[in-house]
Amino acid sequence: MIDTATTVVSLKSQFAAGLIGLPGEPLLLSWAVESTDAQSQQLGYEIELAANADFAGDVLRASAEGAESQWVAAPAFEATSRATWFARVRVRTQAGLTAWSPTLVHELGLLNASDWAGVAIGDEGLADEPAALLRTKFNLTKPVLKARVYATAHGVFDLMINGQKVGDHILAPGWTSYQERVLAETHDVTAMLTQGENAFGALLGDGWYRGKFGFQNLYNNYGNHTSLLAQLEIEYTDGTTEVIATGERFKTATGGVRLASIYDGCTLDFTKAQPAWCKPGFDDSAWVSPTIREFDKSQISPLTAPPVRVKAELPMTIKKQADRSLLNAGQNISGWVRLTVNGKRGDVVTVRHAEILEPGEKLHTVALRSAKATDTYTLGKDGETTLEPKLTFHGFQYADVVTEAEVVSAVAIAITSDTPERGTFESAHPLLNKLHSNVLWSLRDNFVSIPTDCPQRDERMGWTGDAQAFVYAASTLVDAHAFLNSWLTDLAIDQRDSGQVPHVVPDLLAIAAKIIPSEFPDQGEAGWGDAAVVVPWSQYQMYGDKQILQRQLQSMRGWIDYCETQKVGSLIPPRMQLGDWLDPDAPDGQPWAAKVSGQYVANSYIVHSATILADIEALLGNTASEAKYRKIATDTAAATWAELGEAAITTPTGCAMALIFNVAPKSEHARISSALAKLVRDTDGRISTGFLGTPIILDALSQFGNVSEAYLMLLREQMPSWLYPITVGATTIWERWNAIHPDGSINGGGLENPAEGSGDGMISFNHYAYGAVIDWVYRNLAGLTATGAGYQQVSFAPKLVDGITYAKAAIETGYGKYAVDYRFTKEQFEATLDVPFGVTATLQLPINADSVITIDGKPAQNQSALTHGTYQIVVTNPAFATV
Ligand code: BGC
Repeated sequence: MIDTATTVVSLKSQFAAGLIGLPGEPLLLSWAVESTDAQSQQLGYEIELAANADFAGDVLRASAEGAESQWVAAPAFEATSRATWFARVRVRTQAGLTAWSPTLVHELGLLNASDWAGVAIGDEGLADEPAALLRTKFNLTKPVLKARVYATAHGVFDLMINGQKVGDHILAPGWTSYQERVLAETHDVTAMLTQGENAFGALLGDGWYRGKFGFQNLYNNYGNHTSLLAQLEIEYTDGTTEVIATGERFKTATGGVRLASIYDGCTLDFTKAQPAWCKPGFDDSAWVSPTIREFDKSQISPLTAPPVRVKAELPMTIKKQADRSLLNAGQNISGWVRLTVNGKRGDVVTVRHAEILEPGEKLHTVALRSAKATDTYTLGKDGETTLEPKLTFHGFQYADVVTEAEVVSAVAIAITSDTPERGTFESAHPLLNKLHSNVLWSLRDNFVSIPTDCPQRDERMGWTGDAQAFVYAASTLVDAHAFLNSWLTDLAIDQRDSGQVPHVVPDLLAIAAKIIPSEFPDQGEAGWGDAAVVVPWSQYQMYGDKQILQRQLQSMRGWIDYCETQKVGSLIPPRMQLGDWLDPDAPDGQPWAAKVSGQYVANSYIVHSATILADIEALLGNTASEAKYRKIATDTAAATWAELGEAAITTPTGCAMALIFNVAPKSEHARISSALAKLVRDTDGRISTGFLGTPIILDALSQFGNVSEAYLMLLREQMPSWLYPITVGATTIWERWNAIHPDGSINGGGLENPAEGSGDGMISFNHYAYGAVIDWVYRNLAGLTATGAGYQQVSFAPKLVDGITYAKAAIETGYGKYAVDYRFTKEQFEATLDVPFGVTATLQLPINADSVITIDGKPAQNQSALTHGTYQIVVTNPAFATV
């Protein structure tokens, strides 16, 4: 029997879509199904894996009964380098088997160190010196069936074939814990080759490897020399193959790129450029042999996360002023300016970047700290030239161009780690819609190879606390699974043997500490180190990936076990903690000096993370470990509550942790939640939490019956609040609630004790932590909440608020799109709800005592469970909050 009403519409693996050259680890498949038959259910599945696209010949099969459709193990296959496997799936329903899904092509990369045929090559240049050009040439005399480039580097590269960039990845191969793990990229370059002479090469720059990086401004963090390890593999139609690998056949020189520094920018001198350097026919007789460099090939692993790509091109306005042109992208981004100028050979064009303007339309560059964020060009010809920097990026909205040449046009090029967008949201509240946009932009701007704190100043590091605070919002807005998975691999690598989790991953601070005395005590920070537990757990909850829990288990246990060793008696003693970082009531110069004590925060986080870990152990069937971590959680909660609770619940973050992390006994919840609600009402919804309190403050209100207070806080427009920055023009989320004061003056961001912070000018306009709130908006205002891992169970539980009469939101879950579109008046609430196949949605509708519910015109009950389909839901006399 064939089920023609039901279709497997997509099939994906655990790796970012579109990548080739993947690792040989077991393939996990997830598929989405659609059916026009409301009764249809997946009763079982069949997977086929074959070496041929037509699934002829030997086919590996797996099948099982049941509804499982996410992270399903494909049949074990022989993982040989370069092999391509084709996977497809069909499901069985009551009506029979569906047709096969679209085919997933899974091409493996170089899996063994010995597969790398060449040696790593570089030049004699040092950090901040001109980027190396590396090239070789070769002749093709036979038709090519297929060609691949495999490449990795110490440094960052643009690979080139015949004058064109290979692929669209930026800052390849990305930043990982280079001392142990370096990524390799694979590109299909079949179409780039021609018969006769071909040229293959790369522009190789300092990047994160040896460029100035970290707020201590150190060079050579991972090594003094950059190098490229690459090979071009050609398969001819006659079955023969050829490998062109880095080594002595290459030559090197420098060209126009005189500087390519992530912080400082790019200097491109076209009078020194060799424009045809990677084209066939180029005379490289003046070039020299490259230097062969050591490269531990056992550290190479294939790229699995979405690479950095161009996400958007935003035309910039140009305002000509006496001494410069001022460019405005209208949006704070990560990236650069593509500038077209009309000038003369030798003209210099200087482009400086900034996120905001100071009075007099001057660029505000204090926030960049030591990062020069300046691209400088020297024109190589008369007439029009289009300028773009190489191997750098800036965080900016504005740019300032100083040149004798005429500025013709400018486009802001926005880059990001190219995670697929997952959430969409709009409502009747324009400022809230803008907040959503700002959070998404801060995500894009800060997901640049790793989850960073900010994209503009001399920092841009993988602060664990920022990622931890933001991770649920991130996974609501985009499919961050493969991206965070890669970062968690580095987190575990950089975690100390003691279990301590570094403040930043990759752990540049540990590297810096070997060179200059550390600015940070070498201890795990509450809320930062907890990324080790919270991030994998969020991956399970938001995507349903259980394997990641197994993979990160030692890392998670290590962190909690380490925290236990730090206790004196039953608690972590008082000491310096980053704590509820950037509480708006802390002195501007002391972001760690929050209202809630660091000691309470530290112990509350143990309760939170140990509870999560106990749940994970239970899921994985580890009963003894579950009991161990459950006991840590309960004991720590009891001691924290007894010793620190009363003081803590005078503060909003203290209340929120008491409630949401279950630090306080249930019997105290009513007292604490009314104290919190009163605090919020008494201050007109003024936000008064920092990085750690902010992600949970609205839940601490709404989950305990104080929905009006939650909206009072969310919708407040006076500083400090989420919406205030928008009223003064913000296009991203700020690091500090008061980054720009209502009188227009800009917070200097100085620290009173730079030794414990990170220097002056800690004032970014693009830090995502406070944007964590957007996850609450999806779950509450739109009402779309995952109640089971990976959205297999969801609730539709909108919490309406007077004035926001309309909301429309969708989340692209692994099962398909879970979406709502509703509007309401005092008389009636009407929603269209889309529930994807394989998902069960439980209704928690906004009802009053006399509300009548209908679904598709028929009387219905609240708490009804809906399976896939589109439903028209009507509730008369709906309940809504007022602020
Ligand atoms: C970073 C943060 C980080 C904090 C902790 C700052 O400099 O930008 O976002 O979490 O330091 O110390």
